[in-house]
Parts: sequence; C-alpha cells; structure tokens
Amino acid sequence: ASEKAELIAHIRTLMAREKAVLVAHYYTDGDLQALAEDSGGLVADSLEMARFGTETSAETLIVCGVRFMGETAKILNPEKRVLMPSLAATCSLDEGCPADAFSAFCDAHPERQVVVYANTSAAVKARSDWVVTSSIALPIIKHLHAQGEKILWAPDKHLGHYVQRVTGADMLLWDGACVVHEEFKGFALERMRRLHPDAAVLVHPESPDEVVNQADVIGSTTQLIRAVVDRPEQEFIVATDAGIFWKMQQLAPGKKLIPAPTAGEGATCESCAHCPWMAMNALQNLAQVLERGDQDIQIPEDIRVRAVQPIQRMLEFAR
Ligand code: 13P
Ligand code: SF4
Repeated sequence: ASEKAELIAHIRTLMAREKAVLVAHYYTDGDLQALAEDSGGLVADSLEMARFGTETSAETLIVCGVRFMGETAKILNPEKRVLMPSLAATCSLDEGCPADAFSAFCDAHPERQVVVYANTSAAVKARSDWVVTSSIALPIIKHLHAQGEKILWAPDKHLGHYVQRVTGADMLLWDGACVVHEEFKGFALERMRRLHPDAAVLVHPESPDEVVNQADVIGSTTQLIRAVVDRPEQEFIVATDAGIFWKMQQLAPGKKLIPAPTAGEGATCESCAHCPWMAMNALQNLAQVLERGDQDIQIPEDIRVRAVQPIQRMLEFAR
C-alpha cells in the first residue's frame, strides 16, 4: 500500500480505538473530507457541523476546520472530548473581533439585539443574543426585523451588508472581513463572466459587495454545492475557497467549475482562494492528535453556559 493509504488505515484504527468520529468542513483537504465521509462522520457547512456534533453518540469529536468550529462543538457538547488537528487554525473574522472591544461596542448600544456570526470566539458568542451562520443569517435577521428589532452585527461587514440590503433591517456593523473572500475582485469577475456567458455565478456572502452583486446564487458552502447539482447550467464561476471543488466535482463530475478571479487578470488555479487556517488540517496532524489525545478544546464553564444559549437559539430556529 502507498504511504498515504497506510496513514489512512492507521487513522481509522486510532479512530475506532478512541471511539471518535470525524467532522470536516468543505474547505479542508479532499483526503480528510473523503475520510470523514466514509468513516461515519460528516463533511458539511458550519451550521450542519454544529448540528451533527449534538446528534452523534461518539465520545470524541474530531473537528477538521478552524477553531471556532471546534469551540462550537465543545460548547454544545461539554461531555464529549473535542479534538482538532491544530488548535492554531484561527479565522481572520474571529481574530478581528476581540471579546473586550466587542463587549464595549455592545455596551454602547444596549437597545440592539446582538447577532454574531459563528466565526467568532466563545467569549464573543457569550456576549450575543443570537449566533448565525451564512446559511441561516438571512431568515434570522428577517425574523428579528419583522419583530421591530434593531441589530448590532459582528464581525463580517460583507455578510452584514448583504443581509442588510436584502432585509432592510436596521443593522450596525462591526468592521471585520474574511481575508480569503475579500480577495475576489468585482471588475475581474465581470471580465470572466464575459468570457463564460453561459456560466452561473456562485458566491459566498463573505465576498465584497461588488462580487455578491454579480451572483446568481449567494449562499453557504452547502447551498453553493447544491446549486451546482440542481441548476441546469453546465458551467459555474465559483467565488469561495477552492477546497469546495472537491465536493462539487464529486457530486457533479460532468460540470465545469471555474474559480472566480482573486487578482486583476483571470485566475489560474495556483492563485485560487484558499484559507491558510483550513490548510493547517492534514492527515499527519490528524494521526498525531489521535495518538496523543492532545489538542483538545477547553472552554471555561462560565463562558460556555452563556455561549450555548445563542447557539441553541439558532439551532432551534433552523429546525
Ligand atoms: P459556511 O458556513 O458557509 O460553511 O462558511 C464557513 C466559513 O468559514 C466560510 O468562510
Ligand atoms: Fe475564516 Fe475566511 Fe478562513 Fe472561513 S475562509 S475560516 S471566514 S478566514
């Protein structure tokens, strides 16, 4: 067997020994997604990852993704051990929204409902009324707006702008962005669309407004993958992390997938958007974390009990 096949077999043995199940995000390496899928785990967007953790009976959850995903799993399942291949896998949105500054911002606007994106620390979630992911942000803000609520939104300003435009809600936005999606360029996308006039444009809402405005479909990773499968077009320009192509190709092998441009000229695959923190997940450090049992997520209980409420509110709403 090849070295890789041996490593995968070794990981499977360790997972059985540790009664562990693997949950991976679509932006992680294809080998990890394949392993999650055929070992009884899940490959998913962040909302589905959160839900899956609460539904499995496994004693150990291994979360391949970025830190907020592991933290959400631990917040919802304190009795389970939650391991991650690397605890250093952060997210620019999380980093750009420190709990102290965020809390002061909330204190200055006590009349607003605090809605935070899942891409935040446990402490920021603990200060919120609602947590949302990209798949459920629109309906939740619509619901709050219909009840006459004013919103304080953090941290992604691009997702915030998009939701504000669609719902008309009164939203005060924190100034954060995803470093990966922010690289997509509106004018280069226009040029690419002229070159591929039959292609549908799929955009993750963490992208800048001028990119979102050109989209045929705006949605979470799962929603974009579904669009490739369900829509009649044979070509798709895709503005999100390149990790998503693994699943899109698997489910729609005949369709042509074109990475949206991240620079002035049209993109080649070498210049594809790819999250450096998602890329910290690999077969090697997955094996290591299973061998050693270290790299487990810990959340102080006083923060956890506050953070779990807005997350559960989201899961209830999504039902
Ligand atoms: P999804 O919830 O759409 O999977 O997004 C998570 C994320 O981090 C996107 O950059
Ligand atoms: Fe965070 Fe962007 Fe990476 Fe998603 S792609 S984890 S939002 S930095």
